[in-house]
Amino acid sequence: MRIFITEDYKDMSRKAAEMVAWEIKNKPNLVLGLATGSTPLGMYGELVEMYKKGIIDFSNVVSFNLDEYIGLPADHEQSYHYYMHKNFFDHINIKPENIHIPDGCAEDLEEECEKYEEAIREAGGIDLQILGLGVNGHIGFNEPDTNIDTKTHVVQLAKETIEANKRFFHSADEVPRRAITMGIGTIMKAKKIILLASGENKAKAIRETIKGYLTTNVPSTVLALHPDVTLVIDRKAASLI
Ligand code: GLP
Repeated sequence: MRIFITEDYKDMSRKAAEMVAWEIKNKPNLVLGLATGSTPLGMYGELVEMYKKGIIDFSNVVSFNLDEYIGLPADHEQSYHYYMHKNFFDHINIKPENIHIPDGCAEDLEEECEKYEEAIREAGGIDLQILGLGVNGHIGFNEPDTNIDTKTHVVQLAKETIEANKRFFHSADEVPRRAITMGIGTIMKAKKIILLASGENKAKAIRETIKGYLTTNVPSTVLALHPDVTLVIDRKAASLI
C-alpha cells in the first residue's frame, strides 16, 4: 500500500486527478471505477479542467460507479446518477453508452445486480477504481460486518452512514435505507485502487485502514490484501497515523 499525504483537500484532488489522467494516457480505453460523496468532487473538478485544456480525452473511457441509493430516480438531486452527470459527465466527452451506474429503481434489484456485475466482466474488469471512505470505514456502500467475497448486491445502510449522509437531504428520514453497491469482492478485483480521504472525521478510519489487521468491522482494512492500492489523503485525514 502506497500512501501520499497531501497538504490539503485541493492538493489531494489535484494529485488524484493527475494519477487518473496518467492512467488514461497509458490506456485510452481505461475501465474506470468511480465514487461519489463530497471527497472526489475536487478531483472531478480538476479532471474537467484538464479535459477543457485538452490534456485528457475521455472518448474511449468506460466508467462504472460504485453504488446508488435504492428508490431515488435518476433525476432526483441526491441520486448518484444526478451527482455524476452534474459534477462530471456533463462536462467531458465520455460516451453515454460507456457510462454505468446501478439502477436503484430497477423492478428486479437482484437481476440489476447480476447484470451490473456481468457488464463489469464484459468490459474486461475495472482497471482503476477510485474509492472514498465512510467514517465507519465503508467502501462503496459495503458497511461494517459485511462479507468479504461479495459481488454487486443490495445493502441496508448503517446508522452512521444515514447520519453522515443526511447533510445532503432535508432530514435523516429522507435518506434511503438501502442501496446497490459493488461488493468488496468486485472492488478487490480492480487492477488498481486509489482511495481518497480528507479531513479529521476520516482520520480514525484511515488509521484502521493502514494498521495492517483485517476485520470486517472496518471494510476498508481488506484493502491491505490488494497488490496495488494508493491512498491519497490530506494531512488532516492522516493526523492519527
Ligand atoms: C458515501 C458513498 C461512498 C463514499 C462515502 C464517503 O456514502 N457511498 O462511496 O465514499 O460515503 O462520503 P464523503 O466523501 O461525502 O465523506
